[in-house]
Amino acid sequence: MTYDVGLFSEKVEETLMIVNDSTNKKLLSLTDNLGDEFMSSFSATTRRATGSTYTPFEIVNSMVLESAGEVDPDCVVDCGCGSGRFSLAAAMMFPNAKVYAVDNSPLACTMCSENVRRYGLSNRIEVVNSSFLDFSLPRDRGKTLWIGNPPYVRHHNIAADDKKRFKAVAGRLGLPSSCLAGLHIHFLAHIADLWQSGDFGLLITSAEWMDVNYGNFVRQLLTTHLPISHMRLFDRSVRLFEGTDSTAVVFSFSDTPRDDVDVTMPDGADVSIPLRVLNASQKWSRTIDCVTDGPTSNIEGLIPLGSLASVHRGVVTGNNKFWVRPARELAEFPEELSVPIVAHAREIMDGCVAEGRSDLLGRLITLPVDLGTLSGPALTFAEKVVADGSRRGVDKGYVASSRRAWWSVQPPKAPAIMMTYMSRKNPTFVRNDLGLSMLNVVHGIYPKRNLSDKALANLVDYLNSHVNLRDGRVYCGGLAKFEPKEAEAILVPCVERLEA
Ligand SMILES: C[S@@+](CC[C@H](N)C(=O)[O-])C[C@H]1O[C@@H](n2cnc3c(N)ncnc32)[C@H](O)[C@@H]1O
Repeated sequence: MTYDVGLFSEKVEETLMIVNDSTNKKLLSLTDNLGDEFMSSFSATTRRATGSTYTPFEIVNSMVLESAGEVDPDCVVDCGCGSGRFSLAAAMMFPNAKVYAVDNSPLACTMCSENVRRYGLSNRIEVVNSSFLDFSLPRDRGKTLWIGNPPYVRHHNIAADDKKRFKAVAGRLGLPSSCLAGLHIHFLAHIADLWQSGDFGLLITSAEWMDVNYGNFVRQLLTTHLPISHMRLFDRSVRLFEGTDSTAVVFSFSDTPRDDVDVTMPDGADVSIPLRVLNASQKWSRTIDCVTDGPTSNIEGLIPLGSLASVHRGVVTGNNKFWVRPARELAEFPEELSVPIVAHAREIMDGCVAEGRSDLLGRLITLPVDLGTLSGPALTFAEKVVADGSRRGVDKGYVASSRRAWWSVQPPKAPAIMMTYMSRKNPTFVRNDLGLSMLNVVHGIYPKRNLSDKALANLVDYLNSHVNLRDGRVYCGGLAKFEPKEAEAILVPCVERLEA
């Protein structure tokens, strides 16, 4: 087995030249049958609750080698050690350091202890069966390397007390916190809380904190208190960890002030990005792409779409088949009780909206909450719809029963622009000159201030030619999704440039 150094950047290659051959051989000979067995015995779904995905040795070794180029630690903490892969590699790399392998799973600690014994490292590695969030170290521990693959556990599975603790740490650091943050973010907060001058951190985590709102704590921490020194990005459509869909990032940080961050791109190219640029960005992936796209995209002149416009979902009917009908089916009914509606993403992709062909769209039935306001044919029609809906059980659906009146579906105000938000292709943006409304199959973009016709046209052109799948949340297999907040984070030219 060899290291795929192309994947692991110059940083690792540099250290490989310094590391003596016998340490390198020891790292390359590491195996972990217990961990492998654990990974194949428990399904990804079972392991998800505790964020237990073990890291391939190629990545573990490359991270340990990278850390050796930056720090000579007295102490190493493996944050959520699992079967102990980082602990074993770090103990071999740093023969004078004391290693703490911390995990709250008794099974993981048993596997880790057995691996430690097998490699004769019991006097160097202490296995600590405890929540990492309760773990602490003596003040005289010396320079500490914080390393590992913290558990990716979503906020729904995090105890209220842990959320409180995270909030308190963020408060002490003067950083924003969100109760939506995952456990890996809590781990980073705990590292920051225990941090002492001269420490070094190197973690692999899911990459979503780079771009989402609840990642704000991490982005701020890594551009202020503990500046990020290097990050390694992976191709977002490649599955790095068996059985998980999240994308990964490896990043290192310390308390050394710095101006630039070294970024290793998925193709192995190294670029340098000013820390102040990342500090000002709410969406690092996009910013990094802009910087690496070269001088044609000047990110200094770009602003998040959200500062210009808000993005909202379309209406959820709970039963599109019932509420949206072909125009011909409603031809005899009063026109004021239905509106043309965009009910399929393809309707904005195939030019139907852009070309003003509202006659090709279905119509959404829009009855008032108070049917008593209707009379004549309108009332007859409304009563027929209500009777028909009750007979078919449409009123019993979750969405219908949480509406003020189950029969009254109210479409959102017509947006200025519509966009597709889930596809394997780049999203499509169209001007909504017909003033149409939409179901939740597309998003609406609503300018916060008046934009001239020219600015609106320029904005749509810009979005169609610059936004790509990578701006959204890309899942394995290449499906990309834009939540409204992610769409608001898309960088666009400022109004002055759009009007020019
Ligand atoms: C992504 S796995 C990484 C395991 C190992 N470091 C590796 O990379 O192969 C995360 C580990 O964190 C552990 N874990 C989950 N919650 C924890 C907590 N609150 N405190 C300590 N460990 C935790 C899980 O049991 C799991 O072993």
